[in-house]
Amino acid sequence: MSSEAPPPFRERMLGLLEPSQLMAMAISYYMRVCVEAVKRGEVLAPITQTAKIRDEAFARFWIAFSTARAAAPAPNAPETSTITEAEGPELVGSAALIPPLLRTASGVVLDIGPGTGSQMHLLRSPAITSIYGAEPCVGLHAELRAKAAAEGLEAKYHVLSCGAASSELLPALEATGTGIVDAHNRDRSGVFDTILCVRVLCSVPQMERTTRELYALLKPGGRLLVTEHVVNPWRTVKGSFLARAAQAIYMMFGWRYFIGDCCMDRDTEGALRRAADQDGGWESVQLERSFGWSALPYISGVLVKKTQ
Ligand SMILES: C[S@@+](CC[C@H](N)C(=O)[O-])C[C@H]1O[C@@H](n2cnc3c(N)ncnc32)[C@H](O)[C@@H]1O
Repeated sequence: MSSEAPPPFRERMLGLLEPSQLMAMAISYYMRVCVEAVKRGEVLAPITQTAKIRDEAFARFWIAFSTARAAAPAPNAPETSTITEAEGPELVGSAALIPPLLRTASGVVLDIGPGTGSQMHLLRSPAITSIYGAEPCVGLHAELRAKAAAEGLEAKYHVLSCGAASSELLPALEATGTGIVDAHNRDRSGVFDTILCVRVLCSVPQMERTTRELYALLKPGGRLLVTEHVVNPWRTVKGSFLARAAQAIYMMFGWRYFIGDCCMDRDTEGALRRAADQDGGWESVQLERSFGWSALPYISGVLVKKTQ
């Protein structure tokens, strides 16, 4: 599943530069949205309506990026590890970590930050009874709904216009009218059999709190499936000082601002492990680390809640 051996020097260097291509693309969409607002006569919008401008720019960037990625995965590191999928093209890099995990999803599923729904084809299992996609970026909802329809999942897939925080998520779940939270509201017994976090905990406003809240929403025995890029573990043999420095530089030059609040410097594994402290820990934690030489190193795996 993971890439243990680092790739050759040239690819490692290209891997350090890869985020700069993403950032350049995101900035170009941001500039375009600002110029369009000014042309519409909303001259001060880039200063007074930054949240709206950023949201629209990120939506357009992410649609363009995920469409391009689906058509042709990036050739550079950390896209160097390859896995061949039985029923699709060869997947490279972090994209290869996702299918084996998501194909194990079952029951009632919460998909946090599904974006354009690029992982939706992995959720066609009959073992899944319903899926709730919590996507706060409204500009992505049309794509998300179209993907659900294309995958024949429109009856199962509920698009929620909210973030991962319980204060937003629980009212949005209630508003679906499916009664999905009724039992949890009575006895705090959890809502979901599976929660998916794919490249999203980097963006949630309060990660420690959010991971605790997501843990509380898992049913006993429920599974949290995770593929997340994290802070480079540069103090360990799996990490790289150069890649950690690159992360700091990207953050300094506005990565978070232009890439939808994404942070490169989060200890997501620590937060996930701590999320179950109130119950004396998880039943099991299986997390692998990949691409420790790059500016986008990953953790990937499964955390299972105790049945109690
Ligand atoms: C990098 S994209 C990943 C999308 C998708 N999971 C994928 O891997 O293709 C991050 C997504 O998280 C969403 N997001 C940002 N903040 C969020 C929050 N607080 N709660 C839930 N989703 C959030 C963004 O709108 C975006 O769709």
